[in-house]
Amino acid sequence: MGNITTEVYIPLERSLALEHDSNQTLTTRQGHPVTDNQNIRTVGNRGPSTLENYHFIEKITHFDRERVPERVVHARGAGAHGSFEAYGKAGDEPVSKYTRAKLLQEAGKQTPVFVRFSTVIHGGHSPETLRDPRGFAVKFYTEDGNWDMVGNNLKIFFIRDPLKFPDMVHAFKPDPLTNVQDMQRFFDFVSLTPEATHMITFLFSPWGIPANYRQMQGSGVNTYKWVNAAGEAMLVKYHWEPQKQGIKNLLQSEASEIQAMNFNHATLDLYQAIEAGDYPEWELCVQLMTDDEHPELDFDPLDPTKLWPPEQFPFLPIGKMTLNRNPEDYYTEVEQASFGTGVLVDGLDFSDDKLLQGRTFSYSDTQRHRVGTNYLQLPINAPKTHVATNQSGGQMQYRADRASGQNPHVNYEPSSMGGLQEAAKSGKDHEPHYDAKLTRHKIDRTNDFKQAGDTFRAFESWEQDELVNNLVGALSGCKEDIRSRMVGYFTEADADYGRRVAEGLKQADRDRPSMAEQAVDKAKREGHGADPY
Ligand code: HEM
Repeated sequence: MGNITTEVYIPLERSLALEHDSNQTLTTRQGHPVTDNQNIRTVGNRGPSTLENYHFIEKITHFDRERVPERVVHARGAGAHGSFEAYGKAGDEPVSKYTRAKLLQEAGKQTPVFVRFSTVIHGGHSPETLRDPRGFAVKFYTEDGNWDMVGNNLKIFFIRDPLKFPDMVHAFKPDPLTNVQDMQRFFDFVSLTPEATHMITFLFSPWGIPANYRQMQGSGVNTYKWVNAAGEAMLVKYHWEPQKQGIKNLLQSEASEIQAMNFNHATLDLYQAIEAGDYPEWELCVQLMTDDEHPELDFDPLDPTKLWPPEQFPFLPIGKMTLNRNPEDYYTEVEQASFGTGVLVDGLDFSDDKLLQGRTFSYSDTQRHRVGTNYLQLPINAPKTHVATNQSGGQMQYRADRASGQNPHVNYEPSSMGGLQEAAKSGKDHEPHYDAKLTRHKIDRTNDFKQAGDTFRAFESWEQDELVNNLVGALSGCKEDIRSRMVGYFTEADADYGRRVAEGLKQADRDRPSMAEQAVDKAKREGHGADPY
């Protein structure tokens, strides 16, 4: 960890360019040159001040509004620009066999991207060393409009029904009274949510603290669809595999050591690597499955708490992403960037994965609140292609989305007077058929524990040791019924896993000073009945 530093490296050329730029006159946002930026206008040099201090009022009221609400989850993040290069193939087959998405068709085709990495639970300046999933959101600025792949580093999730998401986030975030995260609240929820056992097994292992943003994997987690020119669909999962930089995770002790010195290490690591020309790269792989229920599997392909076994559904490389440019302004680009799972291009589609459907409503809804009605007009969010809509108005509209040659009197469709027209279709629609009751039910093949056991057994012994230690540390302060439900889940996953956590908890109880010993210690600290020596 010796290479971690708190200094931000700004290349010399950039600082010199700033110094020598001739047009540096300070102005107001109205373009008025500011001749005095040190003194407000007052009656005599000892005050009082007057209300027509336009420059001061503009400056202070803008400052008062400098923050938009931070993201309700994934508030802490870092971003970078880059490029995605398609291979034109999915494994050995031409990619067109499965999808007509234009950005993927041609080997060597480049599509610009912006990526935002993040931690999930805590606020905008929280440490980047916390045990937490990491966000991995990619915006592809394709010729057909934007495609957002809003993923995480881990390949699965805690829950499969979006109705549970707000409760889950409340349980994981700080206590509403103390404002401190509490493992008892966390595990209270988790111990009543058996489908989370697999995710917890990853999260409390070293995979729960990636060393930085460059050396981690990414995954779309949810199941999507690919649609070809004939309208035929395949189920698809997306995975980002780090290339030359490899994968690196931290032990809890290493993370604590870094956090004591530097709680911004992942942001700095990404920024410095890119400034130094050491561009991180990821290969994008897909797993494909035919679009049906797959009764032969012991899990449902639409269940985001499950991995698709790679021996059965191999990783097929489809392209490579390189991040090679840092943002010029954090707020403009990284903070205002708005990603959503609804943002797909022709040839990509949604599956019936319920979590995905809930997410798809949530992202654009929160962004209209967080950034504003016209968030898609900001340069970081706007497609780098033709945009022409009849939507207009709302706070901060920057321009009308008009096409060149469009009749400016016509902001509706259909019209015979030179308004916007529907586009031609580029292939057959994919039209799945449904014949089922409208209902509120869990999926049939919940199988909450088997893959958690497989994952536990697949870990190396040091990873298992770390997992058990971390779980014991987190659960030891929880009530007995919470602990026993958790041990029950781990035992269902793997008998050895459950036994080791149970034994660890017993040992932690033995090691903990008794109530009587704690009372004596407290009395000594406070000087009552203290030992005279
Ligand atoms: C951010 C909702 C599950 C990955 C967010 C935000 C919301 C949200 C409201 C804030 C967005 C913003 O302010 O711009 C949900 C809901 C979920 C869910 C309702 C489940 C029902 C997931 C899953 C993943 C994920 C399964 C991973 C595959 C992310 C990422 C961000 C994010 C990476 C940050 C995007 C950025 O960098 O701006 N989510 N989420 N979320 N979510 Fe989810």
